[in-house]
Amino acid sequence: MYRSRHKADLDRNTLNFLSSIDIDNKILYYDILCTKAHVIMLSEIRLLNQGELVSIIAELDRVLRRPQNLVRDGFEDIHEALETHLIRKIGMDVGGKIQTGRSRNDQVITDIRIKARDDLIDIIFHVINLVRLLLQKSQENLNSIMPLYTHLQQAQIGNFAHYLISYSEILIRDMDRLFSLYDRINESPLGAGPIGGSLFPLNRRKTARLLGFDNIVSNTIDATSSRDFMIEFTSDISSIMITLSRIAEDLIIWSSQEFGFIEINDKHASTSSAMPQKKNPDPLELMRSKAAIVIGNLASIMTILKSLPSGYSRDLQDIKIPFWNSIEICSSSLVMMRDIIDSLEVKKEAMLKASEIGYAVSLDIAELLVLKHRLPFRTAHKLVGALVSKSIGKDNASLKLLNTSEVKEILDKMKIKITPDKLVGMLNEINLERSIATRRSEGAPNPKQQIRYIKKYRNLLKKYLNNVKEMKNEIDTAKENLTNAISHIRKSKPI
Ligand code: ARG
Repeated sequence: MYRSRHKADLDRNTLNFLSSIDIDNKILYYDILCTKAHVIMLSEIRLLNQGELVSIIAELDRVLRRPQNLVRDGFEDIHEALETHLIRKIGMDVGGKIQTGRSRNDQVITDIRIKARDDLIDIIFHVINLVRLLLQKSQENLNSIMPLYTHLQQAQIGNFAHYLISYSEILIRDMDRLFSLYDRINESPLGAGPIGGSLFPLNRRKTARLLGFDNIVSNTIDATSSRDFMIEFTSDISSIMITLSRIAEDLIIWSSQEFGFIEINDKHASTSSAMPQKKNPDPLELMRSKAAIVIGNLASIMTILKSLPSGYSRDLQDIKIPFWNSIEICSSSLVMMRDIIDSLEVKKEAMLKASEIGYAVSLDIAELLVLKHRLPFRTAHKLVGALVSKSIGKDNASLKLLNTSEVKEILDKMKIKITPDKLVGMLNEINLERSIATRRSEGAPNPKQQIRYIKKYRNLLKKYLNNVKEMKNEIDTAKENLTNAISHIRKSKPI
């Protein structure tokens, strides 16, 4: 339809190669919104009369009600399909005016931004739901003692609540990034034309307001060809996916027979076509691979953008694919992770047993020696190391099984003046729960602290929830106003 100077049509192969019509389905709704705002503004600057406006709006509403009736085959994109449809239905004299003062270049990026705004809000809601669940599970697991790992080797004693809160913190940061991105997305490029504006007195601020944008992207080159918010959004999504894939990895490891710390609900586990005993955490494994896909998408987007000449180039069309794919992956992964954690069983006894048989309490003992016997920390470190080494030599026995003479031998060798019986007594009194409860440094797994953090993050979550609801309300009001403006216009008769 756009071919005014060409002597031949695009051949079918070329059309298929360059068309974005398949993925453009995602923006048909937004393209209609964008077109409504544009024609309302055109009528205000008298480039359309009332009757023309009403016919256009009425036909757009018909497409909205029956999107399946829109012919898509044979078009380069949804913009061409929609304009052609309007011309066919209401004639060239009216339908042929919708693109006045507008180009697909400002149009497509307006559609992408309105959709991105909705998607961002959706993702924030999903993150809030997940964090809310993590905090609830933290509350339930204040007494679920477990080893904490560094290098995947037992490091210190902690509890499951502390673990879950750590991911609440990370996800809150991930979400915070989305909030700060919102303002950069919520600016309208509409009315920038192909790259250099228009002779018409287009009221760009009016269309921006109608579409619920806070501002316009003023420079017309910037408006039509910048995609940095898409890099940022995909990067923020990558960060969320990295967070989810790390949780997934922990849960996969902990659900293995060797750990047995958690049991994933049957409804989230796959099996084997050959081995009847298998219970596989496939959705969690896919969370890892999907994180990789999103990171790859980010690389694709950045690589498409780098070294593009300023102004629109068709390369920009291909960014939509990895961008929307990342959004879909992120939304479904957040929902999946929430469901999995909600229904998994925490095996407290297995966690406790693993904590008791290891030596993850060693640092606590060394610190106790510093506090009670004023040993230099390095000396205490060496002493506890020697005690652990002795116990490992005794078939990995507990430190509690060391006897006075074994302890005395070590103390004498290291020339440490502590009564062996006292040290044996201290080792015997080791109590994991108390050990955690007496950790005083801020952010440690001490349950008293965890309770405070749970409260703090619950309050914070409420604030985020209010903010996102406000953002959504503003958009919904804009959409509603646009609809009202239309019903107001529709009262006058179509031509
Ligand atoms: N389908 C195109 C896209 O998604 C729309 C813009 C086409 N503009 C152009 N000058 N060819 O980017």
